[in-house]
Amino acid sequence: MKTNGTLESPSTKQNKKVSHPIEIGISDKNRQEVANALNKLLADEQILYAKTRNYHWNIESSNFMEMHLFYERLYTELAETIDEIAERIRKIGHYAQGRLEDFLAQANLLEGEYTNDQDTQLKNLLDDHETLIREIRKMIDDFEDKYKDKGSADFATGVLKQHEQWAWFVRSYIVH
Ligand SMILES: [Fe+2]
Repeated sequence: MKTNGTLESPSTKQNKKVSHPIEIGISDKNRQEVANALNKLLADEQILYAKTRNYHWNIESSNFMEMHLFYERLYTELAETIDEIAERIRKIGHYAQGRLEDFLAQANLLEGEYTNDQDTQLKNLLDDHETLIREIRKMIDDFEDKYKDKGSADFATGVLKQHEQWAWFVRSYIVH
């Protein structure tokens, strides 16, 4: 299944059930490029999910219940987005990564050290959301202009806006 950190497309798989050919007006090469980018994004989202949940469990502050519930909201919404990214990859004819070791190998975001300090947690989360916002913004242009995949560009725009909302929420808790 795994070759050089990427998944094989259905058309290259041997001795396994091969999906019906996909004819949606995007070249095989372009669909592969988009799927690779989305699989990398999926890996980063999984890192951010685990980090947010880790903070939900371990936060210690005078504000405990507020932060505990805030993090729960974030990772619950993130889980939805993760599901949609994986399913978008399937819609363009490729397989979604689903193993933790593949996510770790592909992710750009770092898991970081354990911390139960609210301010450090919030800054780490904001940094990750803003990093992804910048990455996705580039991705949208590539999907649209380079790979001619308007559906994935539109989809990624939705993910971008979701991260902009989460970044706003997280940023608003950071007071200097
Ligand atoms: Fe919980």
